[in-house]
Amino acid sequence: MKCRVNPSYMEQLYSFYSPFYDYVFGKLLEPGRRKAFQYLDQRPHQKILEIGIGPGSTLEKYPAHTKLTGIDISASMIEEAQKKAAQLNGGSTFDLHVMDASQLSFPDNYFDAVMSAYVITTVQDPHKVCREILRVVKPGGQIIVINHTRSPNGGVLGKIEDLLAPVCVRIGFTTDLDVIRVMREVGMHVNGAVRCNLLNTGRIIMATKS
Ligand SMILES: C[S@@+](CC[C@H](N)C(=O)[O-])C[C@H]1O[C@@H](n2cnc3c(N)ncnc32)[C@H](O)[C@@H]1O
Repeated sequence: MKCRVNPSYMEQLYSFYSPFYDYVFGKLLEPGRRKAFQYLDQRPHQKILEIGIGPGSTLEKYPAHTKLTGIDISASMIEEAQKKAAQLNGGSTFDLHVMDASQLSFPDNYFDAVMSAYVITTVQDPHKVCREILRVVKPGGQIIVINHTRSPNGGVLGKIEDLLAPVCVRIGFTTDLDVIRVMREVGMHVNGAVRCNLLNTGRIIMATKS
């Protein structure tokens, strides 16, 4: 049975992390973010959504003149991201809101691209969140997900990830979720995945809406 994520626990936990998140997880997860942005279409003036934006660790990585909308379930995280956004002047606009990624208040086919960095394994219903991402991105639009994803069935590593899940979920994420499979199951067209981060534990997963 998959490990359940409790959304109010996650909201409180990440709010608690928010003042020092950048110094701990922020740095540890930075190689994946840096690599992922190499795959983002660099056209200016794109309307991009980032879900679970946290304290805004990615803000300065967007191409100049991006119209970025960032959402997070934690108000404290959004406050941190707003402070960071106020210091940037690359011509981009940053519209940051408290919002649940499983209930996005945006129209269908609205964004040119959607970015999700280390979020899918922190939500209660990953299928619902991925369906929402798919709904709001334009046909042909880029979807970039950075995440740990459970190893395929049958392997020893996958069993270890299942055993670690109840412990990891206490510190903010689950390890027993096959994120690539979820993305495919909701209808995303997964174009590829490359490894990232310490011990190659992360994946940058590129997908599109067909
Ligand atoms: C591991 S952090 C990743 C933060 C940031 N994206 C990064 O690159 O480090 C997960 C983030 O997802 C947010 N989150 C968790 N569940 C969410 C949900 N249902 N809707 C929106 N954000 C959520 C948390 O508040 C937290 O900021």
